[in-house]
Amino acid sequence: MVVDTFAFPGAIPVDYSMAGRCCVVLDVLRATTCMTTALAHGAQRILPVAEVEEALALRAAAEEPVLLCGERGAVRISGFDAGNSPLEFTEEAVRGRTLVMTTTNGTRAILAASGAARILIGCMRNAQATAQRALEAGLPVTLLCAGTAGRYSMEDVLAAGAILAAMGAEADDLGQTARILWEQHKTDPIPLLRHTRHTQRLIALGMEDDVQFCMEPSVTDTVPEYRDGAVKLPGNP
Ligand code: MLT
Repeated sequence: MVVDTFAFPGAIPVDYSMAGRCCVVLDVLRATTCMTTALAHGAQRILPVAEVEEALALRAAAEEPVLLCGERGAVRISGFDAGNSPLEFTEEAVRGRTLVMTTTNGTRAILAASGAARILIGCMRNAQATAQRALEAGLPVTLLCAGTAGRYSMEDVLAAGAILAAMGAEADDLGQTARILWEQHKTDPIPLLRHTRHTQRLIALGMEDDVQFCMEPSVTDTVPEYRDGAVKLPGNP
């Protein structure tokens, strides 16, 4: 089985079908890392939406208080309860809660995968466990990087490489490139990322701790899934 890898949703060919596939969505900096962290810390579920207005409407319609989170330009949206830093999603902040999340690239990439049979939420922190879950799915696999503003983003491709290395699967050309990059930089990928736009933006905003946290490889077995409009753990209703 050859694993397909796309650098951002806009790179998916128009005639490509997600039907019957297991799609792993990756937005390492930082949306899928936030989701993984929130669910590992006991959040009930996360409702990902593309637009701020949709998030506000979901909050207004919710029967219970929800935690509104997300960013634009990597900064917390005005009036929201939380931004898009995984360090905000502590157990105290999220246990038992429903989160509504909108981010510039990550939540949109999840929605772009919605035709797939299974949608796994991957990041660097759960790379090994995601690889295992993707193999167990027994379906053809697509790795969908969120990218940044419709362009390639290196941290997502590095995580794709980490997952491919753990899967031991055949890969397309981008996947092979990702795996080589990962093998060359896996002991310390941060110096490489310092050359990249999104990492530089986060560091300029004082969020270097986020970058360090997001780039820790395979430190959790939590692999959320997107189904029925929500990101949740397999056992969560
Ligand atoms: C996104 O979804 O665009 C990112 O998670 C942006 C960010 O780092 O806040």
